[in-house]
Amino acid sequence: MVAITEAVSLEKQGEIGMLWIDNPPVNALGHPVRKGMADGIEMAEKDDEIRAIVVICKGRTFCAGADIREFGKPPKEPHLPDVLNRFDQCKKPIISAIHGTAFGGGLETALSSHFRVAVPTAQFGLPEVKLGLLPGAGGTQRLPRLIGPQKALPLVATGNPINAEKALEEGLVDEIINGDLADGAVDFAKRVLAEKRPLVRVRDMNDRIDQARNKPEIFDDYRKQLAKRARGFEAPEACVKAVEAAVEKPFEDGLAVERALFEKLMSGSQSAAQRYYFFAERQVAKIPDIPKDTPLIDIKKVGVIGAGTMGGGITMNFVNAGIPVTLVEAKQEFLDRGLGVIRKNYDISASRGKMTAEEVDSRMGLITGTTSMEDLADADLVIEAVYENMNLKKEIFAKLDNICKDGAILATNTSYLDVNEIAAQTKRPEYVLGLHFFSPANVMRLLEIVRAEKTSIPVLATSIAIAKKIKKIAVVVRVCHGFAGNRMFAQRKREAEKLIMEGALPSQVDKVIYDFGFPMGPFALADLIGIDLGWDKDNSNSRTMQEVLCEQGRFGQKNGRGFYNYEEGSRAPKPAPEIDELIIEFSKKKGYIRREISDEEILQRCIYPIINEGAKILEEKIAVRPSDLDVIWVNGYGWPVYRGGPMFYADLVGLDKILEVLKKFQAEHGDDFRPAALLEQLVKEGRNFSSLN
Ligand code: 3HC
Repeated sequence: MVAITEAVSLEKQGEIGMLWIDNPPVNALGHPVRKGMADGIEMAEKDDEIRAIVVICKGRTFCAGADIREFGKPPKEPHLPDVLNRFDQCKKPIISAIHGTAFGGGLETALSSHFRVAVPTAQFGLPEVKLGLLPGAGGTQRLPRLIGPQKALPLVATGNPINAEKALEEGLVDEIINGDLADGAVDFAKRVLAEKRPLVRVRDMNDRIDQARNKPEIFDDYRKQLAKRARGFEAPEACVKAVEAAVEKPFEDGLAVERALFEKLMSGSQSAAQRYYFFAERQVAKIPDIPKDTPLIDIKKVGVIGAGTMGGGITMNFVNAGIPVTLVEAKQEFLDRGLGVIRKNYDISASRGKMTAEEVDSRMGLITGTTSMEDLADADLVIEAVYENMNLKKEIFAKLDNICKDGAILATNTSYLDVNEIAAQTKRPEYVLGLHFFSPANVMRLLEIVRAEKTSIPVLATSIAIAKKIKKIAVVVRVCHGFAGNRMFAQRKREAEKLIMEGALPSQVDKVIYDFGFPMGPFALADLIGIDLGWDKDNSNSRTMQEVLCEQGRFGQKNGRGFYNYEEGSRAPKPAPEIDELIIEFSKKKGYIRREISDEEILQRCIYPIINEGAKILEEKIAVRPSDLDVIWVNGYGWPVYRGGPMFYADLVGLDKILEVLKKFQAEHGDDFRPAALLEQLVKEGRNFSSLN
């Protein structure tokens, strides 16, 4: 074995040269790997004893792509496209032997090899688009040549991977190796030599490209398919353009188009935001005072109290991960209804082909419904998901403390109540915390883990681990009213409501927020959630817009009338001129002198207070770092990932500008806009939020 660089070595197995890449954790194609690959191929080509080369990786995966940490820094030679062109030109067969994930530059490496073999569990993908980029080392030109543009388009433009079986079916890999990968690859290489197979250079494969030429409908149709999910993103369209170039242009010219598009995206703010976000999501589980080797509590059985929408969704998360749940309701009738909704949700998934009827049955089989809390005696984790009433929650926790075994974790799903007060009802406050799921809990990826004053480190570490198991992104926050997400969200809600009193209309506010990149604006969202949520019918007296709307029976989507009108069976908001009139009349009655409000003011009024509240939350140490708040907003509130999150966006706008605008609003509208001390301090020191990550 000869070490070529610290990350690449060459081992001779008879006439086969094994080029081993070893760059943990994911064999990213950083400089030592690129240089090692280039020099290794050179060395193997010159070595007369070597007749074929196997490119193979140590550790958990084949190369998972370029080293994202190098992006934005001065590039160091050799560049990946040049290394891969060298692969192409090698006179000896190169076989990529793939396990784990051949992603991004990793898949591009495989595409530049002459053959590809893989283990059955391997995955293949070009996730660059998720980083606001496109494959920049020939992937957009080679993949369509190998599998055809129609099959290449979704891989390039959505970034979603395919498994080994599909890759074999589509001709992306030549053979699946069932035993040891290295042995299988050597055996494959020997067969290539024995059969004198010609080298397959993907760059020269033109059949599939020729078949797609002069068929613009391939791209038009795909663009239509992509339109909704790609709204606001720049990279997906660039991906389609690059594949189009593969069809229309010779290989080298196509590569030049790919490079130009790649560089444009790389220097733009969307990719900077998405790359930042990639690391933000991975940072979130790292809590400074939770050591990596903290002992975890084994969670084999879960209890959920409350079979409503929240409790039902929470239950589904656990049974989806194979963990049995005891679901408790106060009355049999509510329990039956809750179980019925869960089954219906699974049946819908089954009817869409996402699971089989047997899987539906086996998941339902993991749920035990009961009306007796005593049945939670052997649960390792209990999550209370009843409605927001402090006295009721206190009562439940006092009971649970008596019923549950020692060492069981007791969690509340409250979205704003004081978890310390709830924990104080038990003799085990160190085992109590908040697990704040977002609705619909079986769909939304965000979970706020609310760390109460006495929550122990193993309980927190276990909660983080279990969140990963049920495929949630967990952000640890501390106790305050509304925790991090809802506390920030309340700012936008308040300003949106004020803006329609001052002169804007719901459709104008919603359009600004939608165009910013949110899936919908605050009023369409209010219609979706239900305007009657929290409405006190008995004391309603037309004091607020909520009261006015509810008194008129306008509850939102649920009854087809809210800030907008809805046609039977449709969720698409239709203008409601009668509501605009009502708002105008109501605001005048309240003494407002309505004025023209610019889109810029709407955006700043709705977004800057979110950022300011985020700064206060950081100041109070409710959240660990600014990027955690960004993860909360992207996953829980529909913040467009191509803008990174509110705190990243603030850095982009400039904290000095945010501060200046907040001060102006404070002078005009009062202390809702009082700038956070942290914001003032950062501006004074010429720093940004990223410096706190
Ligand atoms: N560059 C640098 N670091 C990377 C990386 C990459 N491409 N991919 C993963 N890492 C790091 C992570 O940040 C994490 O670091 P940490 O332990 O310090 O937090 C560590 O590797 C492990 O990653 P995960 O926690 O994500 O591990 P998983 O096992 O859950 O997932 C994975 C592994 C599926 C490979 C996932 O990490 C992933 O999807 N990585 C990104 C792949 C990607 O986007 N590739 C394209 C890169 S761009 C490119 O190739 C451009 C080219 O076309 C020119």
